[in-house]
Formats: sequence, structure tokens, C-alpha cells
Amino acid sequence: KQRELILAFESSCDETSVAVIEDGHKILSNVVATQINSHKRFGGVVPEVASRHHIEQVTLCLEDALNEAGVDYADLSAVAVTYGPGLVGALLVGVSAAKVVAFAHNLPLIPVNHMAGHIYAARFVKPLVFPALALLVSGGHTELVYLSAPNSYEIIGETRDDAAGEAYDKIGRVLGINYPAGKEIDQMAHLGKDVFNFPRAMINENNFDFSFSGLKSAFINTVHHADQVGEKLDHKNLAASFQQSVVDVLAQKMVNALKKYPVKQLILAGGVAANSGLRERIEHELKTFDDVSLLMAPLKLCGDNAAMIGAAGYVAWKAGVQADMSLNADPSLEF
Ligand code: KG4
Ligand code: ZN
Repeated sequence: KQRELILAFESSCDETSVAVIEDGHKILSNVVATQINSHKRFGGVVPEVASRHHIEQVTLCLEDALNEAGVDYADLSAVAVTYGPGLVGALLVGVSAAKVVAFAHNLPLIPVNHMAGHIYAARFVKPLVFPALALLVSGGHTELVYLSAPNSYEIIGETRDDAAGEAYDKIGRVLGINYPAGKEIDQMAHLGKDVFNFPRAMINENNFDFSFSGLKSAFINTVHHADQVGEKLDHKNLAASFQQSVVDVLAQKMVNALKKYPVKQLILAGGVAANSGLRERIEHELKTFDDVSLLMAPLKLCGDNAAMIGAAGYVAWKAGVQADMSLNADPSLEF
């Protein structure tokens, strides 16, 4: 085939998505059906509700993705799918759909790690350069990943408790902000000041791990205490203080990692990579690393989507990765 088309599925959490990707870096279609409205009133993703939505949406997304791309099954070269980490019932929907298409049309089935997908969202900006370091910040994960070559991932540090996005969502609840709260807190943060000086856990420790649960508790205690004594706190300042603490820790750990691991590229990816404060700060820090180029996932592709799974799947496929019909969802999949 002249052009290699990958059909990709993503259903690990609360977005059902199907995409068609050409040659690993060109988006022909990227259909995303979000379920956020169904989960909002519960303040987070309800796994059973998520699975049901995925089942309803997956074939519709598939049809739309093929139509939008203007391709037929016969044009496809392979099928890629997220098989973990994520919610098991949600993952199973995408895995089953991908298996059906691969089996029916005799196409290779490529299993993709969701976090590798987040990293490869950056591939739609420009090619990755190795060795690279990825700062991966999402709702479920916060980690520093070393990539010595394409399709080679080594976690050099990660959160010991909450992920950064999870902390955003949890403190959002206290401020009465709907799930997912990250974007709104980000906007509020720009209107306030860091007057609370919340803790920056592990910032001076000689490792690349993170911890955000202490920050979350400090934030919640501050708000509750003010409520008890009838004091009114400025939500903009609370948001700014929280965000400054998160950004300080992420940036400092990244800088430490860049000093220890001489890489050619720093990749910022994951849902929280959409954070404007974080993007600005990382851009600023990278100025002192002349030999390291900065590659940030496009804003639109920071959240969960199948295009990124297609890009990571393409690389995995070229590296010889392939699954058979026994592929299963792995909710706690690691690199
Ligand atoms: O990567 P993602 O779409 O899903 C997971 O794989 O977890 O990340 C979703 C997370 C949510 O916690 C959401 O609040 C957060 O990303 N998020 C943000 C921003 N936009 C989304 N956090 C901070 N600032 C943002 N602008
Ligand atoms: Zn994600």
C-alpha cells in the first residue's frame, strides 16, 4: 500500500474515540465522543456508566471516523487499540471492537499503552528525537519517562499517590467546580496570586518522584477552616496558589531529570499538559537547556483521543509489536 492507514480505538476512560491516521503522523479523522456530561453529577467517572456509553458509541464513532477520512476497510493497513491502563470495562469495549475489525478484515492488531499514546500525541507537531524525556501529566498518571528509542519507555519517576490531574479534579469539587476541573482552575489561576504558599512535596528530594495528596489535603483544610470561622477566601487566589505549587514541583523535577539524563528532546503530554501555566513554565525552563528541543502535545490532542493511539500504534507496529485474538484489557498496564 502506498500510504499506510491505521484505524485506532481509544476507550480507556470517559472518551470513546476512533481515528484514521496516515503514515503515523497525519490525522484523516479523529472522532471523540465525550461522556463528561453523564459523569459530572457524580463528580467523577463512574466505571459502569462509562462502559455502557462506550458500547453505545463505539460503532457510531467507527462509522464516522471512516466516513470522515473517506476510507474503506480495504484501505487499512492495521488496527491499533488502547488495552491499558484504564477502567477494565471501558477498555474491553475498544479492545473487542478492534479485534472484530482486525479479524473480519484480516488486519494486524496492534496493542497500545494509553500513556505511550499520550506521548505520541506530540508526533502530530513534529517527529520525536531520541533520546527523549517525557513529562506525562494526566488524570490518572504523573510520571517522567525516558525514551532511548522509538517504542522504548522507561519510567524514571512517578507520583506516589495522586496524579496531578486527579488533584485538580478533587480540589475543584471543594470549589464547586464541575468535573473535570483542570481547565477552569487553570483559567482562574491566571486571575489570582500565590498568597497561600501551599506545600511543594518532595521538591528537594533527590529523586524524580512526585506526591500531590499533601497539597490536596492542605488545600481542602484551608478551605474548610475558613468555612468554619466564617472567613471568605478568594477562589482565584486559591486556584493560583494550588497551580503554582503543582507547576513548581513538575518543573523542578523535570529540570533535575534533564540534568541527569542528557536528552535531545523534552516532550510534554497528557491531559494536564493543556495547562497554560505549566506550558509557559516548561517553555521558560527549557531556555536554559540549549541542546534540548521542546515538543508539546497540541492543545487539542492533550486529552484522550484515538489519533494519539494511532500514532503510538504506528511506531509499535514498525517495531514489530502485534497481538493476536487473545489480547485482553489490562487495567493496570505499565510500560
Ligand atoms: O489525559 P486525560 O485526558 O485523561 C487521563 O488519561 O487521565 O487527563 C484528564 C485530566 C483531568 O484531571 C483534567 O482535569 C485535566 O486533565 N486537565 C487539566 C487541564 N485540562 C485538563 N488540568 C489542568 N489544567 C488544564 N488546563
Ligand atoms: Zn489519558
